[in-house]
Amino acid sequence: MNLTLKIWRQKSADHKGQLVDYIIEEVSPDMSFLEMLDVLNDQLISKDEEPIAFDHDCREGICGMCSLYINGEAHGPDRGITTCQLHMRKFKDGDTIYIEPFRAKAFPIIKDLIVDRSAFERIQHAGGFISVNTSGNTQDANAIPISKDAADEAMDAATCIGCGACVASCKNSSAMLFVGAKVSQYALLPQGQIEATDRVLNMVKQMDEEGFGNCTNTGACEVECPKGISLENIARMNSEYLKASLKG
Ligand code: SF4
Ligand code: FES
Repeated sequence: MNLTLKIWRQKSADHKGQLVDYIIEEVSPDMSFLEMLDVLNDQLISKDEEPIAFDHDCREGICGMCSLYINGEAHGPDRGITTCQLHMRKFKDGDTIYIEPFRAKAFPIIKDLIVDRSAFERIQHAGGFISVNTSGNTQDANAIPISKDAADEAMDAATCIGCGACVASCKNSSAMLFVGAKVSQYALLPQGQIEATDRVLNMVKQMDEEGFGNCTNTGACEVECPKGISLENIARMNSEYLKASLKG
């Protein structure tokens, strides 16, 4: 396939960015999207041009590092996958592909297609953990009964990889799907109950301080989430927040 790529180039947060055209030829339909960018970068390097900066790590859909807005969709035109799992067979010869960074005030651009998603780390630090007594009297986790339904729902919430596609897809740049998943994975389990009140209050406070918008129930986040995180997690977070606020 021969393709025209329109890629966002931006030297740094302080520079103005723009879409730059690149022609790439003989792209195999079996290449992943990131491999296609690797080939383009090899070509740029061989011409002494600056390669395109983009985030990636595991390249198998588990780490949450890859991002990209591809033809106006977070993680591209497929459903239930990350950009690293997208293959060029989804496109056809002669296509023009727009490749942009995830855009949100709370995700400032670092360079080209890389944005700073450390706001998610700070939200996690505010409450996305449990404390375990390791004095020697710790109860074996397997001895704590948990219903199958609760275990399944907690596991589903825990599959969130923190990629930020939910924020990038939301017209309000809301992080509530991410935070809802992180609150839910503990709220559903006995181990999460001890810090439940502080957790939801602190995580929501941090989310607001980071500059994410509010949820207006459009559901774009759920559609674009590569892990199928359900909007029910936002409802659960809101109910946990209400309970915690009433406790005071
Ligand atoms: S909720 Fe989905 S889209 Fe949002 S960070 Fe988690 S995995 Fe990514
Ligand atoms: S590079 Fe790890 S999820 Fe895509």
